[in-house]
Formats: sequence, structure tokens, C-alpha cells
Amino acid sequence: MNEDKLAKEEVNSSWGGRFSEPTDAFVQRFTASHTVDRRLYNEDITGSLAHAAMLTRVDILTEKELVDIQDGLQSVKEDIEQGKFEWKVALEDVHMNIEAALTHKIGIAGKKLHTGRSRNDQVATDIRLHLRSAIDDISIELTNLQSGLLSLAKGETETIMPGFTHMQVAQPVSFGHHLMAWFEMLDRDFDRLQDCRKRLNICPLGAAALAGTTYPIDRDFTAKMLGFDRATRNSLDSVSDRDFAIEFCSAASLILMHLSRFSEELILWTSAQFNFIDLPDRFCTGSSIMPQKKNPDVPELVRGKTGRVYGNLTSLLTLMKSQPLAYNKDNQEDKEPLFDTIDTLKDCLRAFSDMVPAIKANKKEMYESTLKGYATATDLADYLVKKNMPFRDAHEVVGKAVALGIKQGIDLSKIALEDLQQFSMLISNDVYEILTLEGSLNARNHLGGTAPEQVKIQIEEAEKRLVAERR
Ligand code: ARG
Repeated sequence: MNEDKLAKEEVNSSWGGRFSEPTDAFVQRFTASHTVDRRLYNEDITGSLAHAAMLTRVDILTEKELVDIQDGLQSVKEDIEQGKFEWKVALEDVHMNIEAALTHKIGIAGKKLHTGRSRNDQVATDIRLHLRSAIDDISIELTNLQSGLLSLAKGETETIMPGFTHMQVAQPVSFGHHLMAWFEMLDRDFDRLQDCRKRLNICPLGAAALAGTTYPIDRDFTAKMLGFDRATRNSLDSVSDRDFAIEFCSAASLILMHLSRFSEELILWTSAQFNFIDLPDRFCTGSSIMPQKKNPDVPELVRGKTGRVYGNLTSLLTLMKSQPLAYNKDNQEDKEPLFDTIDTLKDCLRAFSDMVPAIKANKKEMYESTLKGYATATDLADYLVKKNMPFRDAHEVVGKAVALGIKQGIDLSKIALEDLQQFSMLISNDVYEILTLEGSLNARNHLGGTAPEQVKIQIEEAEKRLVAERR
């Protein structure tokens, strides 16, 4: 293979000074990253514009050189966006490709741009800028999904469904309450993203290769110009730190873990055995062999994609494990897992925020299913406790009543009073009201409880929070 021979091109003009032969062609391809990191072109140009402005401010570049660099970078950007840019493997990455193209366009001023910086602080800056805007987009998508949950929950506060523990019917709950549990998970996810953004939003530019630079640079100026809260404090840490990418992938893993849990429930609920909800046809697909099928592909795929996001987190943690200070080429491998996480997370959130408001609850099926699992057994025990029976004894009485219900094939609320009274004479006619599903729900009327009145308060407060905190 040609590739195994030495590269036809000259030694790399960006660092080839001390080399006596060009890089091996295979090594060139193996070490290059432009196919992946070209995605950072915009951030790379933004960072260079700030760096050039700073160099001008401290009299390292002239005003004329700055204008040349600004015009040149603008023209490079247009070339890239119009698909006219020629990416060269010999120039390794996005940084050297852009710098070489700039120099080709404007000459000597282009060669001065790299004064007082290194690709090490440059790439660390680019990734931070890229991830910052990704987090902002993802936060909007997350908020959309939360709004969708609120609008669905509003109409379902009185809808009764079985609440499960161990996947066995436990107690009746409001469907709105269940939806608001999902909302809470996403609320924590949102906070985690903002927290990650805080630690991410500091500027490594000026750390240069690892030790800083001999030029009188103004790091606060570039940090401010790029919208960072401040400059980083230690040059070694600046070029080697990828914690922010790991934190993001960890926050993303939690979001996907949550989405996989929603997915799992949606998938179960659309099955004929549950039939609790309908997903609109546009989110499902059919089978090429079984004409009756309507498969919940979107939630299934989201559940599946959770795996690759966990994988990306593991990749990054392992990539950074045991790396000595400061920059190492290993770090070039940070981008694929990070970019894939951003893209996957965005798509999954988008799919969910489109789908969730369109979920249709089959209220009758949910209600009937709740009647099947002796979901009000705890209410009967609480009823006896309120009539002064110790809870353990009440538990025993209700257990016997449930066994009778199973034998007779009926719900607790359908067992005759005389039959119930053989277990305890404390039971009287007023028991039937508390044995209804509605009675059970309404009785849990406290902060965080499932009574529709409480769920409505929960929704209202969540709505206010979204309006006040997310503009
Ligand atoms: N492409 C490199 C990366 O993504 C940029 C930094 C390279 N620095 C170096 N000294 N080779 O990490």
C-alpha cells in the first residue's frame, strides 16, 4: 500500500524545522484528527480572533496585521462553510489547517497569529467553547421536554393508574403524579448541566504549551472576550484538564439513564397486555412480516442509545486515567466520545420532547387495571389503625381479606361487609368509601402525595419555576 511509504508531501511546515524526513504516510493518517476536529472550526476561529485582538492590545501585532487576520479568518470561515476548504492530512488538525490557509491568504501576518499560544491551550479553549454552546442547546431541549410533560400532566391529574413496586400493583396513583416524577428527574438533570457549565466556563488560553509564555499577554482580556467567567489559574492544569468533558458525559449518562427508564415504561404501556397509552403512529413503525404490529421504535432506540453514551463516559474516564501532566497526544481522542454524546443526547431529547405531549392515556384501561391488584389494601389497614388497631394486627387482617378476595375472584371493595367483619368487627359500612380508588388517591393529600389536589399544586409550582428560572 502506498500509505506505508513516506508521505509525498514536504515535512510539515508548522513544526518540520528539526525533521530530516517527512512523516510516514500511515503515521500521518494515524495521528491526524482533522476529519473529527474540523467540527471545531467556528470555535477555533473565534478563539483566534480573540487571541489576535489581545496580541494587538499588548503591541505584539499591529492594527494592520489584526485587520488582515480578521479578514483572512472570515474568508477561511466562508470557504469552510461553502465546502470550498481543502483539508489536508499533512496539516493534522483543524488548528494547523486553518492557520495554514490563513497564511496562504494573508501572508506574513498569518504566521504571527500563533505567537504566545500553543495548540495545547488552543484546543482546550475550542472544546470548552463548543461544549458550552452545546450545553445551552441541550438545556433548551430539556426545558422543552419538561414543558411537554407539564402540558400532558395537567390533563391527567385525576387519571388513576396502578402505582408499582417490584412491578407488582402497589397503590393507586395519579397518572399526572407519575409524569411529574419524570419531570423531577429532568429538573435534577438540568441543574447538573448548569453546574457542569460553571466549571467549564473558564479560559485556558495563554497557558501555551504547558508553562505559559514569555510575551506580556493579557489573559483576562481574552477570557472576557470569549465570554468566559475568568482565566484558568494554573498553566499545567489548563492544558491537561478534561474534567469538564467527563462531567458533561456523566450528566449526559444520567439523562439517558432517565430517558431509558421512561422508554421502558412507554414500551411496556403500549403493549396489548398493559394498553395504558397510545403513541402516535408517527413515532412508531410496522413489521415487514406481521401486519398487526405497531412497534414503539423511538423509545426502544433511546433505550438502546443509552449504552453508547455510558460507553463514551467510560472511554473518557479511561483516556484520562494515569495521564501524567501536562498535555499528551492521548487527549486528541477526547473528541469522538464527546461529540457523539452531544449528538446522541440532543437527538434523544428532541425525540422525547416531540413525542411526550402526543401521548394519549387510555384512562379506562388504566382504571380497570388498578382495580385488579388489591391496590387499596394499605388503605384498609390505615382505616383499622385509625380505629385503634395496632398496624401489625391491621396488616394481618387485611392480608386475610385479600386472600378471601383472591378466592372469590373479586376486589376488596366488592367483598360483602359480613365477610370482612369475620376478620375484624371494627370494619363497618364506611369502609367502602376508603376502598375506592378515588378515596385512596384523595387521602394522600400532603406535600409530594398523589392526591389530584397536590398534583395540581406540583404542576403549578413547576410551571412557575420554569418561567422564572429558564429564560
Ligand atoms: N489535535 C490535537 C488535539 O486534539 C491538538 C493539540 C496538539 N498538540 C500537540 N502538541 N501535538 O489534542
